[in-house]
Amino acid sequence: MDYRGKVVIITGASSGIGREAAQAFASRNSVVVGVARREALLREQLERWQRDSPDSICLVGDLGEREFSEQVIAETVARFGRIDVLVHNAAVPKHKQIYDLNGDEAEYVIRVNFLSPVWTTLAAIPHMLANHGGFIVNVSSFAALVPPPRESLYAASKAALNAFSAGLWNDLAGSQIHVSVINPGAIDTEIWDKQEAPNAFRGRKHPPSMVVDAIFEAIEKRRFELVIPRRSLSLMAANFLRQFWPAALRFGMARMDPVHKDVIEDARQRALELRRARG
Ligand SMILES: NC(=O)c1ccc[n+]([C@@H]2O[C@H](COP(=O)([O-])OP(=O)(O)OC[C@H]3O[C@@H](n4cnc5c(N)ncnc54)[C@H](OP(=O)(O)O)[C@@H]3O)[C@@H](O)[C@H]2O)c1
Repeated sequence: MDYRGKVVIITGASSGIGREAAQAFASRNSVVVGVARREALLREQLERWQRDSPDSICLVGDLGEREFSEQVIAETVARFGRIDVLVHNAAVPKHKQIYDLNGDEAEYVIRVNFLSPVWTTLAAIPHMLANHGGFIVNVSSFAALVPPPRESLYAASKAALNAFSAGLWNDLAGSQIHVSVINPGAIDTEIWDKQEAPNAFRGRKHPPSMVVDAIFEAIEKRRFELVIPRRSLSLMAANFLRQFWPAALRFGMARMDPVHKDVIEDARQRALELRRARG
C-alpha cells in the first residue's frame, strides 16, 4: 500500500506503541497527526516525523474531554481536508484493588479508553465517507477478552471498545471504511510504570513493534481482529478457559495473584469506620 501523503491520526503518540506507530507512518511519508497530553514529548517526536514527512503536526490535549476529541478530527480536516487512517491507541491503565476504586476514576478510564474513540469515530465517519473510504484501527487489549487481576475497569473499557469495533465492522459494510481491532498481550512500554498497585505479572513483554506491524497488517490485509502475539500458548489457554472453564481461570489467577486477606480486612475496617461516621 502506498502511504505517501495519507493523513494518519494516531492518538497516544507521545510514548510506547503510539510513538513507534507514528514514526513508522512518518517513515512511509504519511502526514502524521500525533495526539497526546505531554507537549514536550510530542514536540520531540514531531521533529522526527517531520524529517520524513514535513507536513506532520501534533495536537496537545486530553482525549478524556469530548470537545478536544472532536476537535482533533475537525482540526485535521481543516488543515488537510481528509483523514485516511485513524488509529485509536491512547489509553490509561487502571491496576488497583477493587476496594480502592472510586467513581471518578471509573469515569475517566471509560472516557479516555472508550468514549474518546467513539467521539472521534462518529466525527470522522462523514469525512471518510465523503473521501470514499478510510481505516479505523482500534488498539484494544487482550484484557478485553480475559480481564487480568485488579483490572476490571481497564478490561471493561477495552471490552466496550471491542464491542463497538465489532458493531462498526457490521454497520460500515459497503462504505469502504474498514475497521480493525488489535488485542495485544503484554508489551514492553511505560504503561506498566503507570499502574497504581504492584503487578504480579512476570511473563515476557513483547516489543511495541509487534503491535505496529499488526496495525499495518490490519490495514493492508483488511483484518478485523488480531491478537498479538499470535499463537501464544498462554493467551490461547487463558482465552479457552475464559470461555469454557471460567472457574478454572479464576482459580489459576487467584493462585498467581491472590488478594491477601489483609487487603479485604483493611477495606472492611474502612467501610465500618465510614458507617460509624455516618451514624
Ligand atoms: N503495553 C501493554 O502491555 C499493552 C497491552 C495491551 C494493550 N495495550 C494498549 O496499547 C495502547 C498503547 O499503550 P502503551 O503500552 O504504548 O502505553 P503508553 O506508553 O503509556 O502510551 C499511552 C499513550 O496514551 C496517551 N494518553 C493517555 N491518556 C491520554 C489522554 N487522556 N489524552 C491524550 N492522550 C492520552 C499517552 O500520552 P500522554 O500521557 O502524553 O497524554 C501515551 O502517549 C493502549 O491503548 C493500551 O491500552 C498496551
